Amino acid sequence: MSTKHRLNDLAIFGGAPAFQEKLHVGRPNIGNRERLLERINDLLDRRWLTNNGPYVQEFEQRIADLVGVKHCIAVCNATVALEIAIRAAGLAGEVIVPSMTFIATAHALQWQQITPVFCDIDPKTYNLDPCRVEEMITPRTTGIIGVHLWGRPCDVERLAEIACYRNLKLLYDAAHAFGCSYKGRMIGGFGDAEVFSFHATKFFNTFEGGAVTTNDDDLAARIRLMKNFGFAGYDNVTYIGTNGKMTEVSAAMGLTGLESLDEFIAINQRNYTQYQRELEGLPGGYLLTYDETEKCNYQYLVLEIDETVTQISRDQLVEILWAENVLARRYFYPGCHRMEPYRSYFPHAGLLLPETEKVAKRVLSLPTGTAVGQDGIRTICNIIRLVLLNANAVRMRLESPELATRKPA
Ligand SMILES: Cc1ncc(COP(=O)(O)O)c(C=O)c1O
Repeated sequence: MSTKHRLNDLAIFGGAPAFQEKLHVGRPNIGNRERLLERINDLLDRRWLTNNGPYVQEFEQRIADLVGVKHCIAVCNATVALEIAIRAAGLAGEVIVPSMTFIATAHALQWQQITPVFCDIDPKTYNLDPCRVEEMITPRTTGIIGVHLWGRPCDVERLAEIACYRNLKLLYDAAHAFGCSYKGRMIGGFGDAEVFSFHATKFFNTFEGGAVTTNDDDLAARIRLMKNFGFAGYDNVTYIGTNGKMTEVSAAMGLTGLESLDEFIAINQRNYTQYQRELEGLPGGYLLTYDETEKCNYQYLVLEIDETVTQISRDQLVEILWAENVLARRYFYPGCHRMEPYRSYFPHAGLLLPETEKVAKRVLSLPTGTAVGQDGIRTICNIIRLVLLNANAVRMRLESPELATRKPA
């Protein structure tokens, strides 16, 4: 990793890539390996591998305590957790969701023949815009699913008001927001229920995994039944259900990860502070900020590129970074409404989603967590600065015929 001074040093223009190995935006955290292996040995000795074992029960209690809710139901992943929460809450017809999210939010509805109605985001927060939500409500609307995008909380107060007076259910896809708070209250306790993802790509993981958290006793009971085929006891099925159970080995990973949670967050926060420092004052390149008076997990390092200022597009910057082996990602381009089956169902949805369309073209996620150290961040920021401060020259060279045959990032 050496400092690049001239455009010819950039890998896209023939220089050596800044990183020899491909650098992903994240690398799974595993916490204390010895503790994990102890737990795995323990569960093997016990021969209780799944079906609501002791580790799953302990994990659920730990999450409920941490989030400050009455119930936590551990699930095999967040997508199934969303599907179950949606069904248990009785959603049907149409449900209002942002398009600026991972596709699972929409699929969890469509999978059960519920129409996701894509709603635009607030240009300041990039989360569901409550004013737009009200405009999207029809007689078929039964609920709203907010997404705390990149861990930044939705306007939970306004959404709760709307849900209350329009008699709608309110769920949150909190896949990104484990460990975050809003006005001092932990995410997980808002709406009728919230859903976390503990996928390996999240800063806190259970290999695959997720959880539904809620303060609603009846909803929790239905979700518990539904994640276990509807079994209320031996030979007694009282509900339609599926198999959404978390395994013991996943819960063992989760319990071990929880012991290092503060450390994982501290690494993310340190990275965020360094990126902020190194990219400060860059014209047209803005790092997404977190409210540091709240609890944050800082797991996404999102850079927004304003092409009208930089003269270079987000996609061109991504292409340059990929040539350096920095695999920056365009989360969540192009928006759910531009992916199948939704783009065929609603070919003109984009007309009602101007802010979503704008943001989806401007943001990129940069490496963080233990994927990257301080030197790595310095190198990435050096490349970004070099490109943005020489944007006109970079653009001209990128658009020159010699580079026309290069592979797209
Ligand atoms: C916003 C959002 N919702 C849902 C999911 C699905 O989570 P899982 O992979 O645990 O099913 C993800 C996964 O990245 C996500 O980002």
